[in-house]
Amino acid sequence: MKIYVETERLILREILPIDVEGMFELDSNPTVHKYIGNKPVKTKQQAVDVIQFIRKQYKERGIGRFTTVEKFSGDFVGWSGLKLNLDKKEELNGRRNFYDIGYRFIPRFWGKGYATESALAVLDYGFNELNIKTIFGAAEVDNMASNIVLQKIGLQFINEFHFEGVKANWYELKKEDYNETMS
Ligand SMILES: CC(C)(COP(=O)(O)OP(=O)(O)OC[C@H]1O[C@@H](n2cnc3c(N)ncnc32)[C@H](O)[C@@H]1OP(=O)(O)O)[C@@H](O)C(=O)NCCC(=O)NCCS
Repeated sequence: MKIYVETERLILREILPIDVEGMFELDSNPTVHKYIGNKPVKTKQQAVDVIQFIRKQYKERGIGRFTTVEKFSGDFVGWSGLKLNLDKKEELNGRRNFYDIGYRFIPRFWGKGYATESALAVLDYGFNELNIKTIFGAAEVDNMASNIVLQKIGLQFINEFHFEGVKANWYELKKEDYNETMS
């Protein structure tokens, strides 16, 4: 799958096996995992497995998260993008078969507006390239940064729900509402 999206400061591209060091740095950091289940990876092999899992999604589901690279340094920042949730174990807020928007960055890249910048490009890709009708988002209630990003990019709060013992917020954005705000 060929993906190449540029924003002012970032490149979003397909995740590749060469991303293993970056993915390990990202996913082995407990701070990164604070609001996403607290299960940082322990080995490089687990990072390899995640990359393979995402690449398999590109093939089987037509989409998966994109590696995010900082343009000026060429550094691996993390990932941002869409996931098509299909399996029973991917069910969220009672839903199956939905696209969600997500992002996960190495902490030294936080606070620069990169999640917002990448997520806006991801919405454009999802609605205009993939013609998705509705994009959903979820974030733990206490994950301020993620809730703020979802709201800033235009997703609407729908309801609070419980997931694995924590409270989370559920958001959605429909293509027609996205087009209206963009016009
Ligand atoms: C969520 C994440 C991607 C945000 O990345 P980021 O590039 O720092 O986000 P942005 O800079 O685009 O925006 C973050 C916003 O939240 C605000 N913010 C961050 N932490 C905050 C806090 N504790 N309280 C209040 N506001 C906060 C920032 O000020 C910013 O808002 P602003 O632009 O209006 O000032 C990053 O924190 C991350 O990777 N977290 C770990 C993984 C994760 O939780 N992913 C989301 C799962 S739902």
